[in-house]
Amino acid sequence: PAVYETLLTRTEGPVGIITLNRPKQLNALNDRLMDELGAALKAFDADDAIGCIVLTGSEKAFAAGADIAAMAQYTFSDVYRSEYITRNWEALRQVRKPVIAAVAGFALGGGCEVAMMCDIVIAAENAKFGQPEVKIGVIPGAGGTQRLPRAIGKAKAMDMALTGRMVDAAEAERAGLVSRVVPLDKLMDEALATALTIAAMPRLAVLAAKEAVNRAFEGPLADGLMFERRLFHAMFATQDQKEGMAAFLDKRTPNFQHR
Ligand code: CAA
Repeated sequence: PAVYETLLTRTEGPVGIITLNRPKQLNALNDRLMDELGAALKAFDADDAIGCIVLTGSEKAFAAGADIAAMAQYTFSDVYRSEYITRNWEALRQVRKPVIAAVAGFALGGGCEVAMMCDIVIAAENAKFGQPEVKIGVIPGAGGTQRLPRAIGKAKAMDMALTGRMVDAAEAERAGLVSRVVPLDKLMDEALATALTIAAMPRLAVLAAKEAVNRAFEGPLADGLMFERRLFHAMFATQDQKEGMAAFLDKRTPNFQHR
């Protein structure tokens, strides 16, 4: 298994777990970390034994944003030419297996944006979300101004992006930013149980469902509905559809091959 400087990775059965690991910097996201995160996600995505991925941080911070120390001296020319800071973030979008963010503590700036790029966000009661970039003279740079309004609507997105204030886990759940809130000591159990549930599902149906839900955010309704319908039809070409429906009718547990 690969060894990373800024991450820890492990597996638990069919679940790949990635832990952001720059504790002294509250998991601030520098280029190294984002490179490694992209590589770790890609490796799990390519591994047939893995059915779902969990991404987490520490109890104090999921991630406190892009690394301010690394970017403080950059000029416009630096960032525009080299895509420093933002260059690797698209890797998260390219992962086809579901990614669950297990968020405790701060998820700020790029940390909030990374959480929003995940498919399910499970938050500990101490989680705090925010887009504080405005306070340091920039704006969200990895999808915050686009994904936040789609997730929680313009009213709250503007509130967060213009004031930089943090919202706690309860407010984030009410607003629709997170899927579930659990006590801190239950966070990893809940994320893992959810990941195991997903990993046990027919793999092709899982990939198709993720792809189809993502379409809802990226195009007009008519295109999304057509895309969904075609993927729905395509599921009838899979072994697991035959098995899943036969098992239901036979009143037995399905034996999925994930094919
Ligand atoms: N980048 C670099 N270092 C960071 C950091 C960041 N985003 N966030 C925290 N750290 C470092 C601190 O500098 C500090 O280091 P030292 O011990 O060497 O001084 C260490 O982590 C601990 O942080 P604090 O002492 O500040 O801890 P705290 O508990 O008092 O406060 C906090 C926690 C509210 C999260 C505060 O650290 C903070 O406001 N961090 C910055 C949040 C932020 O502005 N994020 C947005 C970044 S811009 C961005 O993300 C752009 C984008 O969209 C891509």
